[in-house]
Amino acid sequence: MKPMGALPPEFARQDGPLKIGGRAADEWAAQARDTPLFVYDMAIVAARIARFRSAMPAIDLHYAIKANPHADLLAAIAPLVDGLDVASSGELAKALAVKSAASISFAGPGKRDDELIAAITAGATLNVESEGEAGRAFAIGDRLGLTPRMAVRVNPDIELRGSGMRMGGRASPFGVDAVRAAALVKAIVAAGADWRGFHIYAGSQALDPGAIIETQAATIELAARLAEEAAVAPPLVNLGGGFGVPYFAGDVALGVERVGGALAEALASRPSILAETRFAIELGRWLVAEAGVYLTRVIDIKASQGETFVIVDGGLNHQLAASGNFGTVVRRNYPIAVAARMGHEATETVSVVGPLCTPLDRLGEKIALPRVAVGDLIAIFMAGAYGASASPTSFLGHPPAAEIVTVI
Ligand SMILES: Cc1ncc(COP(=O)(O)O)c(C=O)c1O
Repeated sequence: MKPMGALPPEFARQDGPLKIGGRAADEWAAQARDTPLFVYDMAIVAARIARFRSAMPAIDLHYAIKANPHADLLAAIAPLVDGLDVASSGELAKALAVKSAASISFAGPGKRDDELIAAITAGATLNVESEGEAGRAFAIGDRLGLTPRMAVRVNPDIELRGSGMRMGGRASPFGVDAVRAAALVKAIVAAGADWRGFHIYAGSQALDPGAIIETQAATIELAARLAEEAAVAPPLVNLGGGFGVPYFAGDVALGVERVGGALAEALASRPSILAETRFAIELGRWLVAEAGVYLTRVIDIKASQGETFVIVDGGLNHQLAASGNFGTVVRRNYPIAVAARMGHEATETVSVVGPLCTPLDRLGEKIALPRVAVGDLIAIFMAGAYGASASPTSFLGHPPAAEIVTVI
């Protein structure tokens, strides 16, 4: 038997049939008219946002929509956050449908001219990632007769220790190396851009509050140093994010209250050039991962050489991350349950596999579950971020999964 991650707290306490947003999993499946499906519980998202607000009342909260760009979820989350961060013109269009352009920032190392045109025309902030990109943005602004709003994305000489995905402290396609950032700010300001400040993103999926605290303090120092060098105060410093979620056995949920306390202290003694600066944190998965449940139905159960395989109608084509093929080195089990029997004692060890004709399509490996039968719904938790939109939905030609957002 192999361990699996703990169910998110809102689901761990349940006994009997699984409820999501107060409604039985079966009812959601009936509403979708088919399985598999994702259900996103907006009450859980709202609870995470409220927790952030109380831990960090003075910090702006941005949602990185790459984590889950579903239109209904965006519409529900937009009024609850201060900004939306996008990474393509497709995401920009979705963000503009729910939030004013002044609250939208656009990061990404390879923005095409048509994407720059869309952002500048709308009035969104470009997180400029290179001198070349700044030049193209100015040329486009001139052509359109518009002043681009620009922040400089810095490739920090800081790493986020222990993060699942490091994006700083090394050679990187993201942002401008810290040693060149002040020169770029000077050039942008001299050219007449509406300079919005810095975007400094050091990594993702960190569960150690100490590492986040260290990185945030170093990021504030770096922003101050660059601002001094450029001799101009930044209106906003986006401190990045990287708040992780507990996917696997042994992971401990991040104590954001400790992070917020340390950040407030760091800001209280910040260098004077940042006195009037606003600070933002941009989060994806921490806001939405735990709110999502992927529901898939058991098609067959079979034995092979001493192992039991529970074969379900959904797989890595919808929920790649649970199969261990989305940025993890070692495959580990996401939290999984039999939806009809929450809280029941585990009686069998099974592997839950999808219908795809590839051995990669394993959603749960040798996990302990209560009795499971053909027709049961299997619930895979932590499915609210990097699920439907981050999976190879066309692979092998199965239909897409439905996605439902609960109403709060
Ligand atoms: C620039 C930037 N912002 C935000 C995110 C969202 O990260 P997470 O979902 O881990 O919060 C990422 C993830 O790669 C990113 O690269």
